[in-house]
Amino acid sequence: MKTKHISMVDLLLETHIGLERQDPGSSEAVEQALGFLKPLNQFSKIADLGCGTGGQTLLLAKYLSGTITGLDMFSNFIDKLNENAQIHNLENRVTGITGSMENLPFQKNLWT
Ligand SMILES: C[S@@+](CC[C@H](N)C(=O)[O-])C[C@H]1O[C@@H](n2cnc3c(N)ncnc32)[C@H](O)[C@@H]1O
Repeated sequence: MKTKHISMVDLLLETHIGLERQDPGSSEAVEQALGFLKPLNQFSKIADLGCGTGGQTLLLAKYLSGTITGLDMFSNFIDKLNENAQIHNLENRVTGITGSMENLPFQKNLWT
């Protein structure tokens, strides 16, 4: 019988992709953090770096107007985020992209 070797990355993806969040955060923590922000509006462009499958990203969409870009290094997580954005009819405001937070694929004026 052949032994199947599974990499640490595969293991991480397999054990985390079905979870609503990939960290021990909570809705309460997100709400508290949002309290520190200046008011945003429908033209605001928001980035959620290291968004995972987007549990938190969708929560941000609930509380904030504007458009949200979720970025994560794992395309499997991003596929899940985009699927969930569609399920919640948020695909016009929430977009997931695969990339590295160390080399952001955004133009500087995303932040203006
Ligand atoms: C602790 S999880 C948090 C996920 C999500 N924000 C949540 O609240 O459920 C950290 C996430 O950051 C991503 N990540 C780590 N380093 C990264 C990098 N350099 N660039 C992009 N994503 C990264 C991981 O793939 C993982 O999904």
